[in-house]
Amino acid sequence: MKAIPLFAAAAAAFALSLPAAAAVDADAAVKLSKGSGCTKCHAVDKAKKGPAFQKIAAKYKGKADGEAKLVDFVVKSPKVKLDDGSEEEHKAVDSKDSAQVKNLVQWILAQ
Ligand code: HEC
Repeated sequence: MKAIPLFAAAAAAFALSLPAAAAVDADAAVKLSKGSGCTKCHAVDKAKKGPAFQKIAAKYKGKADGEAKLVDFVVKSPKVKLDDGSEEEHKAVDSKDSAQVKNLVQWILAQ
């Protein structure tokens, strides 16, 4: 019987601990990157066809326009050069929801 009020209190505490906008939803970001095929070419900590997300984060961390640049990059699919010298259109994120795209970019930047 005591479990229910305890659970309610824990849930309330959890809700309060979530900052309104700042928290990155890592699960959603990973899911979206897998669903969009990003993980075919990117891993968090090692280079595949594309650079590791850690490397990308290091490049853009602390830059005021870093987040906006990366959002642009993953939405507008610019041409990129692959290691073998060929060019292809970079894959765009498979979501039209700008909050989800932003969450993914913020997650990349947090690696
Ligand atoms: C076919 C392979 C491939 C796929 C799939 C792919 N990428 Fe990339 N990505 C690359 C390559 C190659 C680069 C390096 C481009 C360069 O440095 O010019 C890159 C660069 C990036 C960058 C860094 C841009 C910069 O300015 O440094 C980000 C961020 C990125 N990818 C995110 C993603 C996301 C998110 C997805 C999924 C929607 C994705 N990539 C899917 C190959 C890929």
